[in-house]
Amino acid sequence: MSGFFKSSIGRKVAMALSAFFLMFFLLQHFAINSLSVFSADLFNEVSHFMGTNWLIQFVMQPILILGVVFHFVMGFILELKNKKANGVSYAKNNGAANSSWMSRNMIWSGVAILAFIILHFIDFWFPEINTKFIQGDWSGMHDGELRYFHELQHKFLSPIRVGAYVLAFIFLALHLLHGFTSAFQSMGATAGRKKTLQTIGKAYSIIIPFGFIIIAVYHHLNHH
Ligand code: HEM
Repeated sequence: MSGFFKSSIGRKVAMALSAFFLMFFLLQHFAINSLSVFSADLFNEVSHFMGTNWLIQFVMQPILILGVVFHFVMGFILELKNKKANGVSYAKNNGAANSSWMSRNMIWSGVAILAFIILHFIDFWFPEINTKFIQGDWSGMHDGELRYFHELQHKFLSPIRVGAYVLAFIFLALHLLHGFTSAFQSMGATAGRKKTLQTIGKAYSIIIPFGFIIIAVYHHLNHH
């Protein structure tokens, strides 16, 4: 098995599996965040559940963090190996002649998303860890009500932060536009299903990041 993951196809399969997992995470993250646009109370309730349920906190969250780290590390390894291979092989990358801009720049859209995740953790994750594990406050309350919706709106007061988030979501769309179909191809999706997969991939890659943009801009314009 370890031999398999050291082979070139093994690495691609591992990359694809971690990508599927992250795309599933992104879908549920988007579903929960979109509640914040429709109902502050519902968003608060669901956030409190996610933030205090032990299965989510102590099983799913560590798996997610490992998944994110794995995907980045493996992405860098694949990029380095490809660069090396390109130098000597006849299967040389001919720029726009035989590959899309997105596929040649996965590493750069990936680095932009990594930068976003660091900012995002500083914004939401570290304060959450501080409240729960350092201050020991698991009540989720502030001034007599659940605090999550207000914390979210507070973050999107700054136009600079909203701008940075929107830019990151555009990179996310570019990354997904190539990554979605590429992941299915690494798992051996057959030519017959290629068209359908491409359509689903395009829809996912545009709708989810665009939805995140709407959420960020909505809270910037509608804070109270
Ligand atoms: C408008 C857009 C977004 C908002 C408002 C938002 C909000 C949040 C909030 C409130 C948390 C919870 C922190 C916690 O309680 O632990 C969180 C966690 C997280 N977000 Fe986002 N997010 C957005 C977009 C994204 C995107 C596009 C990605 C991925 C590319 C992402 C990745 C993560 C990750 C990895 C976590 C850590 C999950 C955990 O708690 O373990 N977020 N986000």
